[in-house]
Amino acid sequence: MSEMKEWVGWFRKASPYINTHRNKVIVLAISGETLQHSNFDNITHDIALLNSLGVRLVIVFGARPQIDDALKKNDITASFHRSLRITDPKMMPFVLEAYGRLRSELEAKLSMGIINSPMHGSKINVVSGNFVMARPHGVSDGIDLGLTGQVRSIDVEAIERHFEHGSVVLIPSVGYSMSGDIFNLSYEALGAEVAVKLRAEKLVFFGHDSGLKNSEGELLQEMTVKEAQLYTAKGEARKENSGIDQEQINQLTAAAKACEAGISRVHLLSYAHDGALLEELFTRDGHGTMVSVDHYDQIRPARLEDTNGILELIRPLEEQGFLVRRSRELLETELDYFLVDVRDNAIIGCAGLYPFPEDQAGELSCFAVDPAYRRHGRGDRLLDAVQERAKNQNLAKLFVLTTQTEHWFKERGFELVSSQNLPGDKSYNAARNAKVLMKTINE
Ligand SMILES: CC(C)(COP(=O)(O)OP(=O)(O)OC[C@H]1O[C@@H](n2cnc3c(N)ncnc32)[C@H](O)[C@@H]1OP(=O)(O)O)[C@@H](O)C(=O)NCCC(=O)NCCS
Repeated sequence: MSEMKEWVGWFRKASPYINTHRNKVIVLAISGETLQHSNFDNITHDIALLNSLGVRLVIVFGARPQIDDALKKNDITASFHRSLRITDPKMMPFVLEAYGRLRSELEAKLSMGIINSPMHGSKINVVSGNFVMARPHGVSDGIDLGLTGQVRSIDVEAIERHFEHGSVVLIPSVGYSMSGDIFNLSYEALGAEVAVKLRAEKLVFFGHDSGLKNSEGELLQEMTVKEAQLYTAKGEARKENSGIDQEQINQLTAAAKACEAGISRVHLLSYAHDGALLEELFTRDGHGTMVSVDHYDQIRPARLEDTNGILELIRPLEEQGFLVRRSRELLETELDYFLVDVRDNAIIGCAGLYPFPEDQAGELSCFAVDPAYRRHGRGDRLLDAVQERAKNQNLAKLFVLTTQTEHWFKERGFELVSSQNLPGDKSYNAARNAKVLMKTINE
């Protein structure tokens, strides 16, 4: 019974995401290591599931370990320059053989549909083609990279035509030139280019680890482009002991470029974790690291449709005595005073600014961050936004009445004052005995 309840709860929580992703383009950039991992069968089932939910999918795949194996077997030494393979013409047959075989294997796996479900055997259309035009990478630092190429253009129209028919588009990391040459491409750079040209909603990379870690080994759930660039620069400088490897550097570099070119979210997931893709797309917190242009949360003025979310956030805090109780009706009439911190359509923070213009003062009230999201600077960001709003309203001071958060405010420049300092119109409930803290914001 409880299992069923859990399932119902899960399904309800996932349903808004199903609607959000329908008809949106998601590019999956899959490494050769991912393709040979035992969890890849589960990933293909999840791909089939996403396709059946109307997500427009492109799979860009690489073949580094498969090409390395083939070269080794044929006594050809693989060489790289700045993490790019130098593709000698004599290597090209092995490159093409690896991609051809992987493409057939992928098509076969996707043809299985969704096993153990009523959709087992339902046919997924998989298409591949000459979608990528390329040109030589050329000579870098005096080294000729041979048939290693870079993307010249992507046939967006052709790919979109296939989306109209519900097809999954498969793109190996090779590109063609007008003169009929074939170039070997990096799947990370190609994935980013394809995502940008298709204006994808998301770009997803699969790696050996569940996203990126900080120096304490903790998962970094979010990164801005700037943070990603710093992280890769640090990683490049001391690769051996930074805990970051070349593939992660390549993925993060491509992720940052894609974000700068307009992709709002790029995800770095583990190929070994069963269900990572579904967790990332259908839950609020996901599973790996997400790179975005800016912070994932958005602080904005509250709207009527936020009422339920605010009430859900503040009710437990009212019961614990942190906040003064507000009825739904009162909250609705005072919504214009509120700012909310929104993450994936859920309210995870709120703050009210009640102005007392005659005293050039504003009351910060109903200030809260969801317990699951505390200690990440959200309280600080909300307070900054409230201060900004107060300045725009020409208020000179901000005050707050609190029973349990005195020190938090003191550490942010508020000072303890007597209730006599409150604006004339502000009533003070002596029974609650809250501390009054005040801060000058506009001299
Ligand atoms: C106060 C509150 C909004 C801070 O949110 P937040 O997102 O965790 O804020 P930040 O990440 O910017 O700050 C976190 C820091 O504040 C500290 N902190 C949290 N609550 C505190 C309190 N009651 N007193 C002193 N410090 C506190 C944390 O320990 C943390 O510091 P640390 O990382 O050095 O240990 C949140 O704790 C909350 O919602 N509290 C309940 C509601 C409340 O008291 N509201 C104020 C009355 S209007």
